[in-house]
Amino acid sequence: MAKPAKHVFVCAQARPPGHPRGSCAQLGCASVLQTFAQAFEQGRLYGQFALTTTGCLGACDSGPAVLVYPDGVMYAGVKPDDVGEIVAEHLQKGVPVERLLAPEAVWS
Ligand code: FES
Repeated sequence: MAKPAKHVFVCAQARPPGHPRGSCAQLGCASVLQTFAQAFEQGRLYGQFALTTTGCLGACDSGPAVLVYPDGVMYAGVKPDDVGEIVAEHLQKGVPVERLLAPEAVWS
């Protein structure tokens, strides 16, 4: 596998119903992952970018969370409709989507 220019991690963490932290699974991460996969497939982007599921990224109450490396940019509350913008603006142009950035508090 060629080294990807950027690697997208989509949180796929699940927790039992009623868990106080909630989870990205409860907030719809599966649809976000599927939309990224479709965008990568349709755009033939797998040679440039990688897509991986991951466990909890620490932004549980504002998920689904998506992390892009090597930039260290985390997005929160990502919906399937946001994926195209992340792909076009961040992955392809290198400009993070400001309106979707996770609060700085997730890094503390
Ligand atoms: S469960 Fe996804 S960030 Fe914690």
